[in-house]
Amino acid sequence: MTNPQRAPHLPLGEKRGGRLYGQHILSVKQFSREDIEAIFVIAEEMRTMVERVGTFDLLKGKLLASLFYEPSTRTSSSFTAAMERLGGSVIPISEVRYSSVSKGESLPDTVRTLECYSDVIVLRHPEVGAAATAARYVRKPIINAGDGIGEHPTQALLDLFTIREELGNLDGLTVTMLGDLKNGRTVHSLSRLLTLFHARINLVSPEMLRMPPEIMEELAAKGVTLSEHRELESVLPNTDVLYVTRVQKERFADEADYLAHKDAYVITPATLTQAKQKMIVMHPLPRVGEISMDVDDDPRAAYFRQMEYGLYVRMALLAMVLGKA
Ligand code: CP
Repeated sequence: MTNPQRAPHLPLGEKRGGRLYGQHILSVKQFSREDIEAIFVIAEEMRTMVERVGTFDLLKGKLLASLFYEPSTRTSSSFTAAMERLGGSVIPISEVRYSSVSKGESLPDTVRTLECYSDVIVLRHPEVGAAATAARYVRKPIINAGDGIGEHPTQALLDLFTIREELGNLDGLTVTMLGDLKNGRTVHSLSRLLTLFHARINLVSPEMLRMPPEIMEELAAKGVTLSEHRELESVLPNTDVLYVTRVQKERFADEADYLAHKDAYVITPATLTQAKQKMIVMHPLPRVGEISMDVDDDPRAAYFRQMEYGLYVRMALLAMVLGKA
């Protein structure tokens, strides 16, 4: 087994690309503010290059293995688009039931197989800690694309990039997280990243779907000003970023509990009459009714732009991890 924080024995002759070169990306806890600033500088360059030339050959000859044990539209397709925009190629395994996983092959053996054929492995898995487990068995970098209700670090980076692009700065913002804060891995990762930027975080959820206490303790220990609420109304007027999440049906043991909570909050144009003019509404998507489609044309609705920013951030991460940034 190898060290999960560093994938050793990378090919000789690679140009090093900063601190992320050869690193697994498993949790936002591994990033400093300086790392994030470096990623965003490169993401801006990727955006310029995509707008100017579309596709270019920075990662020509490199292969990404895209291994998804859970459904995905955005993460899987944006990593594929990122690799192809950079001139690289993708081995897609998005239907693990058609792979040897369906014959009982373990995660360690599956990633050991894929590292024979690829330079980097993007992994989504239903179990918390699966990406860290996989990283112990391979020499090539593993990028965590979501591990159950654990973390979604690349989503949090693209969320932060979205906030910076849309609002112009990251420091001292009031971020209100709404919905299924218990099961939403995106809010687990984003709230941790926001500790680096002196954020005030409002957590609005039903009692049953509260942010896990251990994460709240972690945030409080880092000096974040936190407050918990059951209703949005009191915190919306001071909110800079309203981060809406889906109630995650697939994480409920009892469907009746899901049905009782699925429509707990619905953002409509009437909701936003109480919000600032300079604020944004974000959502990692998919949405299943918690933001009305009538909100989509409001300039504050940033969730579709958020998806596009994800392409540039994932291009930056692939270039950095593969030592070509
Ligand atoms: N935001 C996100 O992870 O979306 P997908 O599940 O479609 O990848």
